[in-house]
Amino acid sequence: MALSMRSTVYILNKVLVVGVLLSYVASVDKSNFKTCDQSGFCKRQRAYKPDQSPYVALLDSVQIEPTKMKVQLLNTQNQVRLLLEVIGLERNMARVKINELNPIKPRYEIPVGDVLIGDPKQDKIEISHKDGGSISLAFQSNKIVLQSKPFRIDFVASEHPVVSLNANGLLKFEHLRLKTVTQEEKKEGDEKQEGENQEGQGAEERPEGQEQAAEEEKEPEAKEPEEPDMWEESFKGHSDSKPNGPTSVGIDISFPGFEQVYGIPEHADSLALRSTKDMDPYRLYNLDVFEYELDSPAALYGAVPVMLAHNEKQTVGVFWQNPSEAWIDISHNLADKSVLSKVVDFVKGGDQIPQVDTHWFFESGIVDIFIMLGPGPADVFKQYAALTGTTPLPPMFALAYHQSRWNYNDEEDVSNVDANFDKHDIPYDVIWLDIEHTDGKRYFTWDKSKFPNPEEMVRNISAKGRKMVTIVDPHIKKDDHYKIYKECRDLGHFIKNKDGNDYDGWCWPGSSSWPDFTKPAIRQYWASKFAVEEYEGSTLDLHTWNDMNEPSVFNGPEITMHKDAKHDGGWEHRDVHNIYGMFVHQATVEGMVARTGGLLRPFVLSRAFFAGSQRWGAVWTGDNTGEWGHLKVSMPMILSLSITGITFSGADVGGFFKNPDSELLTRWYQAAAYQPFFRAHAHLDTRRREPWLLPEENMKVIRQAIRERYALLPYWYTLFYKAEKDGGPVMRPLWVEFPSEKGLFKEEETFMIGDALMVRPVTAAGTQGVNVFFPGGTEQYWYDTDTTERVFGGAAHYVKTPLDKIPTFQRGGSIIPKKERIRRASNLGRHDPYTLVVALDRKGSARGDLYIDDYHTFHYRKGDFIYREFIFKDKVLENKNGNPGSTFTTPSWLEKVIIMGLSTSPSAVTISSPKSASTSLGFTYDSVKMILTIRKPAVNIAEDWTISIQ
Ligand SMILES: *[C@@H]1O[C@H](CO)[C@@H](O)[C@H](O)[C@H]1NC(C)=O
Repeated sequence: MALSMRSTVYILNKVLVVGVLLSYVASVDKSNFKTCDQSGFCKRQRAYKPDQSPYVALLDSVQIEPTKMKVQLLNTQNQVRLLLEVIGLERNMARVKINELNPIKPRYEIPVGDVLIGDPKQDKIEISHKDGGSISLAFQSNKIVLQSKPFRIDFVASEHPVVSLNANGLLKFEHLRLKTVTQEEKKEGDEKQEGENQEGQGAEERPEGQEQAAEEEKEPEAKEPEEPDMWEESFKGHSDSKPNGPTSVGIDISFPGFEQVYGIPEHADSLALRSTKDMDPYRLYNLDVFEYELDSPAALYGAVPVMLAHNEKQTVGVFWQNPSEAWIDISHNLADKSVLSKVVDFVKGGDQIPQVDTHWFFESGIVDIFIMLGPGPADVFKQYAALTGTTPLPPMFALAYHQSRWNYNDEEDVSNVDANFDKHDIPYDVIWLDIEHTDGKRYFTWDKSKFPNPEEMVRNISAKGRKMVTIVDPHIKKDDHYKIYKECRDLGHFIKNKDGNDYDGWCWPGSSSWPDFTKPAIRQYWASKFAVEEYEGSTLDLHTWNDMNEPSVFNGPEITMHKDAKHDGGWEHRDVHNIYGMFVHQATVEGMVARTGGLLRPFVLSRAFFAGSQRWGAVWTGDNTGEWGHLKVSMPMILSLSITGITFSGADVGGFFKNPDSELLTRWYQAAAYQPFFRAHAHLDTRRREPWLLPEENMKVIRQAIRERYALLPYWYTLFYKAEKDGGPVMRPLWVEFPSEKGLFKEEETFMIGDALMVRPVTAAGTQGVNVFFPGGTEQYWYDTDTTERVFGGAAHYVKTPLDKIPTFQRGGSIIPKKERIRRASNLGRHDPYTLVVALDRKGSARGDLYIDDYHTFHYRKGDFIYREFIFKDKVLENKNGNPGSTFTTPSWLEKVIIMGLSTSPSAVTISSPKSASTSLGFTYDSVKMILTIRKPAVNIAEDWTISIQ
């Protein structure tokens, strides 16, 4: 949670000096966060607009290797040389790296294994054409064209230019330098061993403002223009010492042929990204933002520097691997065909070509851009997954409903809340404890007056088939009597401040320090603390929540850590800021896995995240507010995460801050029942809002929404199994399923769960009905999951939305597995029977699948799971084995088959299997609704059989 609280202010008031308190109180104000104008490198990079790029690719420096081309780039204004590497990668991908040819010291790169799951597999590239001004490289069926002067690179897929780098000439690479001009001259002179023309050192970088321009005319000998923010800057009383001076890197990335781009979470903004012409750029800088604003490009808790572009024919993506602060400008323009026609012949004709131009700049590190050439959305998801990995299948309980609040006060409170779910017949799987459960915000401890018997409490919960989650944050209370603090201090595990002492800042416990999670040995140390014998009161049914891991530092600049704090290896916090939270998440997950010797799947929720966080589990959208707008924005926020790899995410049901009214809370439950991570949570200051505290009518509707989530758990679980394999998102924008329908490219209120279920939650007060557009054209059938009414695609239809209605539609041609017996927790229904819901397409066919395992171990990785494929065709439903090698079994049987869209009444329904002769089954047929219900086939769900309709 974010800081906010009156009570906390009161406590801190007593101990904080005035200056600290001022900055603390000011945090409730959005002016506590920088605008681009208040950030030196953002201002410099954003203002950079040369007529033409000063960079030239020196074609006579080209070195070609089987999978790689290296070429030097010369900045013709300051004569600094860069090294460009273009690397061909398997699966229609390429990588472009730009670093200084001779940096005075190394620039930060993330170690392989931390974000990239390994060295990406390289693939052959060949020079297909070379002349004095350009080089063409062929790789797979694609082409890369590098132009020398001005430098630019174009990526061509199926004869279409789809991605261009530096097409707008905005490459601006701030080389490392020494502080004074004389030192710089000396140093560069020492470093340049190859007798390069030193005259060039006198050339000036292009001036960026009128003032400098004027100065330079007077002083032609001036070196790099120095700007005030380059060597030190301050914000709201915090000074950033910037010992390395200016280090930012920026370049433009254009997408010719595209009108929409997506991704770069996290922002409380639309799915299709907006033009930033009249606002700040989208910012990526992990921050704890109190009561965040909607429709804003401002930075939030996590950062994934991945952008997708999509049109009717093609999807492409770019991933810039860099964990420093970033800003991204976007504008929607027309392509310059005269330039593109040099790249590829087709660009003739009179039609205008749309183009999205983006401009990215990071505060430090290097240019390291992966280009993913699709061609379809699913291909881009697979490509990105091949680079950064996928979300491991969560344990089943993690996909069920979670009940949280700050705080469940004591053991009695926990046991009452738990009992009330049973009393009101509402299923739930996990109860959460926020920071107040600890002894003075010392994580891994308990407040012994409120929680005297934690282990017994956890065992009481797990005896009912449920789990508990406790919060474990990365700020460590400075207290010599606190074991974790003492150990970290003595072992030198804390991040250091710029002077080399343990970094010290304010967070929940007061004065705190932060372990340096960037260092593998410190992650191991942290992981060891989750061993059941180390974490007092824990059992294997206790799971974890990492909050405040941006990291949130109440008295730090922008409520986070000083950028000049020092990490392992001498790196500045500036270099690694956006990846810190992911390392906390990783270390925690590794601890949860290690405590069971690798047997049980962990569940850990994190607020901060980076590219690759999907490998560690779930994230949520942080401290939202109990207002309709926040319910509405949860859809595009989760969709943006989904398409950039982070498939397991959700938003606090009801909103963290403020008190939602009954209608909003009810609608919120309905929406979240169809979002991947489903947790209710609330601020300490809010009124209690467990479902039974609402009017009876609302409680019933909420119960129904949660029960429907439980009924669909077999479908969710199957989708997560497939997401681990192919990296595809579980919750998807409509354009992912219907990529050629231009009208869907900006749709964000209606979305898909998997490829079979379309949902359009109600997100406004008093909504009597919603217009839902049904994609897929007139050939596509859809079925209302409540009424089974059939709807034709290719048009919008009005759907009435009384309070108990969640507009949800099953796609014709799909089969969804469900469990209709609802238990108090998911695990109790593990062996329950299945229902198959078959939605026929126009040809009378449908397909679906079902994944089953033990719900909680890693044995599925050895093949211990059932995977069944269901095919309905020519009035025969066939159950086929999709994992023949497995010996895993289930006692679950098939209870019911519902077939929607069957137009003729059957005379008989029979079932047959290789094991037994054909027997007839009972059925009912509704000729008005065209629904056939086959009752009690009573065969095992995991055996080969066919059901035939005569
Ligand atoms: C655990 O459950 C037992 C039986 O209901 C109860 O007596 C005990 O107080 C519970 N313990 C805790 C710590 O909640």
